[in-house]
Amino acid sequence: MAIREIIRMGHPTLCQVARLLQPHELSGEPVRELLADMVDTLHHAGAIGLAAPQINASVRLAIIEIPGGNSRYGEIPAMPLTVFVNPEVQLLDGELAGYWEGCLSVPGLRGFVERPQHARVHALDLQGNAFELELKGFLATVFQHEFDHLDGRLCVDRLKDSSLLVYEDMLAELPGPGPAVLDD
Ligand code: NI
Repeated sequence: MAIREIIRMGHPTLCQVARLLQPHELSGEPVRELLADMVDTLHHAGAIGLAAPQINASVRLAIIEIPGGNSRYGEIPAMPLTVFVNPEVQLLDGELAGYWEGCLSVPGLRGFVERPQHARVHALDLQGNAFELELKGFLATVFQHEFDHLDGRLCVDRLKDSSLLVYEDMLAELPGPGPAVLDD
C-alpha cells in the first residue's frame, strides 16, 4: 500500500476514457493493490472521492467516503468507504443545481458547475455483484464529478464560461451561489 501521486490537469490520462474492468480482474492482485493505494491516497488527501485515473490508472474504478453530519460539506448523509467498479449514472430528473467544485487534479481552483440533482448509480462491488444507489442533491453532484473522471472529463470541462472558474482564495469575495464541493 502506498500514497500515490495525484496527476493534474494536463496529464493525458485525465483526458482518456478509462477501460472497463473485467469481473475476473477484481480478485487479482493488480486491482487489489490499486485499490489499496487509492484508499491511502484518498485518506492522505483528506478528500471524499478518488477515481483511478487520478493516480494514472486508466480503469473504471472509483471510491467515495463521506463523513456524515455537519461536516465541512454541510449537512449531508454519511457514506462509508464504498468501491464502485464500472459505475454508470442514470439521470432521474433534469433539474439542475450548481456548486463550486474542487478537484484534487485541479488544485487551487474552483469551478461552478450545474448538474442534475437526482440520479441512480449502477455499479459492481469488488465481488462483482451489481448494486444500485439513488442519489439526490449534493451527493448526485459528487458522484457525477467522480465518475466523469472515468470518461476523461474534468469539472472544468463542464463550465459554462471562464467567469465560473476562480482561484480558491477569490471564492470568498464572490456572491456565493452555493457551497463548495471540495477535493474530489
Ligand atoms: Ni475530481
